[in-house]
Amino acid sequence: MTASKPWNWNLVGEKDRTYWQTPSAESYYLLHRWQQQGRRTLLDLGCGLGRHSILFAKGGFEVSAFDLSETAVAETEQWAQREHLSLSCKSGDMLALPYAPESFSCIFCRNVISHSDTAGVRKVFREAFRVLQPGGEFYFTLCSKNSWGFGQDWPVVDANTKIRVEDGPENGIPHFFADYDTIRELCAAFQILTVQQIEDILTDGVPGGWHYHVLVKKPD
Ligand SMILES: C[S@@+](CC[C@H](N)C(=O)[O-])C[C@H]1O[C@@H](n2cnc3c(N)ncnc32)[C@H](O)[C@@H]1O
Repeated sequence: MTASKPWNWNLVGEKDRTYWQTPSAESYYLLHRWQQQGRRTLLDLGCGLGRHSILFAKGGFEVSAFDLSETAVAETEQWAQREHLSLSCKSGDMLALPYAPESFSCIFCRNVISHSDTAGVRKVFREAFRVLQPGGEFYFTLCSKNSWGFGQDWPVVDANTKIRVEDGPENGIPHFFADYDTIRELCAAFQILTVQQIEDILTDGVPGGWHYHVLVKKPD
């Protein structure tokens, strides 16, 4: 399995930090959905600077914020303190989640799982299944094979995975690219609720890549 490597958040400039501190559009839908369903315990898997941990904590969830980057976890913790919110913050590797079985009624995981290789991504799905309660929901994104990154001349790890080699916060980090068949295989233990494939266009018009956005449920 390729060694996990955190994002280098020290290389993220002010303009991009604003992006990473603003909750994503779909997080508001999931906040509403999971509130309506009466869910309370949420794992923000790969929390980054904490934009979703803060949103869900303000919405009444008991949030566990988790990331491989100690810088990211520390920033999330500081943000929560400024907001007088109580979060459980931990750093560690998604390949071995430090949580007991059935700890969470929902998992939010945006643009994180693709930072491993095929064997690692399979392991993350087993870990997510383990820590989710029966009937729990799991939202995640995966890089799509339609993304420009999959066509780049980056070092190949396996049929789905390349190592990003450009300067920046993701330098040296594996990127796993999925197609729909792979998603169905990865989610075999779950019930698939929705699958979308979305292209991000950055504000300067540059294609930001295609991602699958998937919502699944652990059977009751
Ligand atoms: C693109 S950022 C997304 C952050 C956050 N989910 C958001 O939407 O703002 C990816 C995050 O995944 C984290 N990450 C990468 N590999 C990881 C791993 N093996 N275990 C836990 N977190 C990891 C990185 O450190 C980084 O903070």
